[in-house]
Amino acid sequence: MNAEKELIAKVSRLKKERNAIILSHNYQIPEVQDVADFVGDSLELSLKAAKTDAKVIVFCGVHFMAETAAILCPDKKVLMPDLQSGCPMADMITGDQLRALKKEHPGAVVVCYVNTTAEVKAESDICCTSSNAVKVVQSIPEGKEIIFVPDKHLAKFVEEQTGREMIIYDGYCPSHVRMMADELHKAQASFCDAPVLVHPESPADIVKEADQVLSTSGICRVSRESSASTIIVATEPGIIHRLKKESPEKTFIPACQWCNCANMKMNTLEKILWVLEDMENEVVIPADIRVKARGAVDKMLQIAA
Ligand code: 13P
Ligand code: SF4
Repeated sequence: MNAEKELIAKVSRLKKERNAIILSHNYQIPEVQDVADFVGDSLELSLKAAKTDAKVIVFCGVHFMAETAAILCPDKKVLMPDLQSGCPMADMITGDQLRALKKEHPGAVVVCYVNTTAEVKAESDICCTSSNAVKVVQSIPEGKEIIFVPDKHLAKFVEEQTGREMIIYDGYCPSHVRMMADELHKAQASFCDAPVLVHPESPADIVKEADQVLSTSGICRVSRESSASTIIVATEPGIIHRLKKESPEKTFIPACQWCNCANMKMNTLEKILWVLEDMENEVVIPADIRVKARGAVDKMLQIAA
C-alpha cells in the first residue's frame, strides 16, 4: 500500500471509531475532497452538519464555515484540521465595526453574508449565502433600510437582482477580486460557445459577462446538467477538481489562474488524521454569541434552506 492509501485507510478506520463525518468545501485540495463524506457549498455544508447523526464533524473549509456548523450543532464536536484557515473577507468586519454601522442606521435590517464571524452573525438579523442572498433580501419588507455586510460585490449583485438599494460595507474576497475582465474576454474569444458561470463574489465587470451567477455547488449542478462541452468557470480554481470528476467528458476553463484561496488549501490528509487522533482544534463559540448568531442563521433557513 502506498503512503497516501495507508493514510486514507487510517482516516477511514478512525472516523468510524470516533463516529465522525468529514465535510469538505468545493475549494479544498483534491485529496481532501476525495476523502470527505460530503463536498458542498457553504449552505449545503451547514445543512449537512445540522442533519448528521455523527457526534464529531471534521470540517474542511475555512473558520467561518466550521463556526456555522458549531452554531447549528451545539451537541456535536466540530473540529478543524487547521484552525489557522480563516477567511480574509470574514475578518474585514468586526463586531465593533458592525455595532458602529448599526448606530448610524438605527432601524435598518442587517443582512450578513455567511462569510462572517459568529460575533458579527450575532449582531445581524438575517444571514445569507451566495445561493440564497437574493431571496433573503427579497423577504425584507419594502421601505425597510438594509445594511449588507461584508461583501460589496455580492451586495451589488443582490441590488441589481432585487432593485433594492442597500447600505453596503466595503468588504471583498481577495481571491475573487483578482479576476480580470481582459483574461475572461480572451477565454470567451477562444471558446465562443462556452457558457460563463460566475460566483457572485466576483467584481461587476466579471458578473456582467455571466450566463449564470451561482454558488460553488450551483456551478457544479449547472455544469453537470449543461449540454456544452466546454465551460468557463469564474471562481476559485479548486472547484475544477469536482467539476472534472463529475463531468470527465467536459473541458473546464478557469477564468482566473491567480484566484487561489491559500486559506482553503491549508487542510491536508495528514492534518485530518491528526485531528481525528488527538480530537483537538475544536471550534468553540461562547454560548451567548452562539444563541444570538443562531437566530440569524435560523431566519435564513426558514426563508431559503
Ligand atoms: P459558496 O457558499 O458558494 O461555496 O462560497 C463560499 C466562498 O467562500 C466562496 O469564496
Ligand atoms: Fe474567503 Fe474568498 Fe477564500 Fe472564499 S475564496 S474563503 S471568500 S477568501
